[in-house]
Amino acid sequence: MNTVLVTGGAGYIGSHTIIELINANFKVISVDNYINSNATTYDRIKEITGADVPFYDTDLRDLEAARKIFQENTDIVGVIHFAALKSVPDSVDNPDFCFDNNNNSLINIAKCCVEFNVPNLIFSSSCSVYGNVNPEDLPVTEDTPLKKAESPYGYTKQNGEVILEFMCNAYPLHAICLRYFNPVGAHISGKIGELPAKRVNNLVPVITQAAAGVIPHFTVFGDDYATRDGSCIRDYIHVSDIADAHVKALQKKISGEYTTAYDIINLGSGDGVSVFEAINAFEEASGVKAPHEIGSKRAGDVESIYSNPVKAEQVLGWKPKYNIHDMMASAWKWQLRMKELGIAKHKLED
Ligand SMILES: NC(=O)c1ccc[n+]([C@@H]2O[C@H](COP(=O)([O-])OP(=O)(O)OC[C@H]3O[C@@H](n4cnc5c(N)ncnc54)[C@H](O)[C@@H]3O)[C@@H](O)[C@H]2O)c1
Repeated sequence: MNTVLVTGGAGYIGSHTIIELINANFKVISVDNYINSNATTYDRIKEITGADVPFYDTDLRDLEAARKIFQENTDIVGVIHFAALKSVPDSVDNPDFCFDNNNNSLINIAKCCVEFNVPNLIFSSSCSVYGNVNPEDLPVTEDTPLKKAESPYGYTKQNGEVILEFMCNAYPLHAICLRYFNPVGAHISGKIGELPAKRVNNLVPVITQAAAGVIPHFTVFGDDYATRDGSCIRDYIHVSDIADAHVKALQKKISGEYTTAYDIINLGSGDGVSVFEAINAFEEASGVKAPHEIGSKRAGDVESIYSNPVKAEQVLGWKPKYNIHDMMASAWKWQLRMKELGIAKHKLED
């Protein structure tokens, strides 16, 4: 059994990836400082997989604490580095905290990989690295030139990619930057999903919260964009498909089939879905109305972005399994489950 260290393993994408890793027969160790999650996530992982996940409560900005994990687990063959602060508005309010957390955690993890001879590192990058894409550049490929980051958060992802590229040149380190488009939905069992954030501003969580009556309604920011129905267009991708891509990337690396020392791969469906189409898909999948109002455009929102996912298929043999209806149905199942579990508003207030 190969051992994988998952950083940010109690978080949304990390927890779904741990499930897919266990299903693929990996042994998993998790590390998290619970700044945006809590350790009850491991109970939900156990409910689905039957496995106990050993975990460390560690802030990865602390290099010595990070080194201890590698010292105590000499059989780690790969690291999947999810740990980061992901809220764009929080990064705008506290850019220094976001830079400190995201850059220093990554540098410490990459340093440990070099020091402890762990050759494979997968980094959570994001489509936010593309900045405000020109419509003629759609769909974006990995070679689409990056524009100025729209937020400190987006800048940490641009920066993270550059840090890893230089470290892979300097040391015997292999890194893959997976640029996620819009991960949504929940495990198909409905037993685990994204915990509500302090500032809920992503579309799918606000849709499910409005439908469940947790919030009275949500706002569609702008219906006068130059798109087919006037609303913004995004590339939604089921979180378990994202998880599966990580498993495939690690398997290819470990088998020796995938020898590129530093690589970047888009993880998206390739389909642009508008906000109104997403709302309709939710209402069809759940049979429940999602009350909303139309507001004005929000500063910093890109009109349209979606991926060209061809490289992921060619290099990883990965294609998404789930469509927008599956994404919405699973998100709704999780919203109902959260009600049963008594998780209503922000998780850290529970
Ligand atoms: N969810 C998205 O829409 C999205 C899109 C693109 C990229 N990403 C990236 O994917 C990764 C995972 O995102 P997510 O949605 O699962 O976020 P999340 O907040 O649910 O998970 C991140 C986890 O990292 C932990 N963490 C943060 N800083 C840490 C530190 N210094 N030390 C230890 N643990 C720390 C948090 O407590 C949390 O559990 C992040 O790097 C994020 O930037 C997410």
